[in-house]
Amino acid sequence: MDIANRLSFASFSPEDRRTLAQVWEWISSKMPGILDRFYEYLNMFDETRSMVRVDVGGLKKAQMRHWNLMFNHSFGEDHVASIVRIGEAHYGVGMAPRWYIAGYQRIMLELMEIVGRPGLIGGNRAMAATRAIGRAVMLDLDRSFAVL
Ligand code: HEM
Repeated sequence: MDIANRLSFASFSPEDRRTLAQVWEWISSKMPGILDRFYEYLNMFDETRSMVRVDVGGLKKAQMRHWNLMFNHSFGEDHVASIVRIGEAHYGVGMAPRWYIAGYQRIMLELMEIVGRPGLIGGNRAMAATRAIGRAVMLDLDRSFAVL
């Protein structure tokens, strides 16, 4: 895969990469709450509850590692390897992309709400962070389909 070309087409810039690393300090402390809510939500629907048969504590740790890579090593080798593993883990067990996409959307919006919170980052920087998160999540999602 020519990752540089994909990043360029998605307008994911070095500035986006820097922005993600900068906002991680606000995001990281909120991740445990976001992940608790995420797995509670998966538990509310028969289709997703039946998929999550493994230890949720392990899944939260695995997701935390992945978000850490996305924000601090965006589309570096280890982040891309993690995306591929996630694709294999989810679609390999027969999970349709629709569940992953809708689930991902929830987390993405919580992240955007954090950086957009009044008085936290503010103005243009909050908008830049929202843009960087949107670009990174869409690309991450797209690359996870590579295993299909
Ligand atoms: C509807 C949404 C989702 C469901 C039902 C779901 C379910 C699962 C299940 C059942 C596994 C364990 C697979 C196995 O090894 O047997 C898993 C692994 C994992 N999930 Fe999800 N997941 C969802 C969304 C997400 C999202 C949005 C992320 C983060 C971007 C994520 C990150 C991970 C990671 C990092 C692993 C571990 C992969 C590995 O083995 O290295 N999941 N998920």
